Amino acid sequence: MQHGSTSTYDHCKSVALLSFWINRRLRLRAREHELIRAAFLHDFYLYDWHIPEESHRLHGFSHPHTAAENAKRVFGISSSEADAIESHMWPLTITKVPRRREGWIICLADKICAIREII
Ligand SMILES: [Fe+2]
Ligand SMILES: [Fe+2]
Repeated sequence: MQHGSTSTYDHCKSVALLSFWINRRLRLRAREHELIRAAFLHDFYLYDWHIPEESHRLHGFSHPHTAAENAKRVFGISSSEADAIESHMWPLTITKVPRRREGWIICLADKICAIREII
């Protein structure tokens, strides 16, 4: 589970759909293929963060990097897709500022979806 009763899969699908919508609606001209791949894989960390374990004690800070590494290994994503995944928790991860439009869109869409799921 991700937030509340929403699965990680459904959360990622929502972030991908909202990212697509934001990009089209606001005519932001992000690269759609990279945007959707990164959005779908942004939380591909592959563990249950509700179960306390030393390996993901700082889940909020560490999972973007874990997700990016998993996505590289399993799907061979590009470096710009990995960048977008690694920066999606900004400003929590203060030094990982999104560098491209795809990253900014996913960062925003993730927060909107998370708030919607928690409420
Ligand atoms: Fe995340
Ligand atoms: Fe997320």
